Amino acid sequence: MSLPLNPQLIESLRSQFPALNRPVNGGHLPVHFDNPAGTQVSQRVMDAVSNYYTTMNANSGGAFASSQRNDAMVEAARQIAADFLNAPDYHEIVFGPNMTTLSFALSRAIGKTLQPGDEIVLTMMDHDANIAPWLRIAEDYDLVVRWVDIHAEDCTLDMDSLEAALTDRTKVVATVHASNAV
Ligand SMILES: Cc1ncc(COP(=O)(O)O)c(C=O)c1O
Repeated sequence: MSLPLNPQLIESLRSQFPALNRPVNGGHLPVHFDNPAGTQVSQRVMDAVSNYYTTMNANSGGAFASSQRNDAMVEAARQIAADFLNAPDYHEIVFGPNMTTLSFALSRAIGKTLQPGDEIVLTMMDHDANIAPWLRIAEDYDLVVRWVDIHAEDCTLDMDSLEAALTDRTKVVATVHASNAV
């Protein structure tokens, strides 16, 4: 299946990303097919970052103006993320350095609550960032790892395999909502 290309839409999206408007290789405008290979940043993000450093760069919890602006901005950003994800409360939203670091922190926190022989379920469809942290606690706490297969034909999760992986000892199921692997 191919999607119809709308040149005006492409142009309007491209125009928001200064790095995509710098000709390379003899005058061509660059195209990045692999987003994680270097997530491009739009002008409005650059402006927001610049505004942050100009008006509210401070540690949090201070009585001074820039600290209070910082905290208000972070709280608003968490609320916006909660609305986007349909989370009931913005306290459920955590920002961190990156997903891998947060997953290691989360898995370590959960690991402390588990007993040897407890089981965690991982999928063959996940990025290493959602696998390595769980394998680490499996080693540290003597846990059993069970794997969920995928259907190779359409790259969906094999739900029978998931069901078979669940037991009375299952304590964690770590799975993606959608996988960039496919
Ligand atoms: C699907 C997916 N999950 C997780 C990650 C890891 O993200 P981070 O670089 O924020 O640790 C990536 C990075 O490429 C990814 O593509």
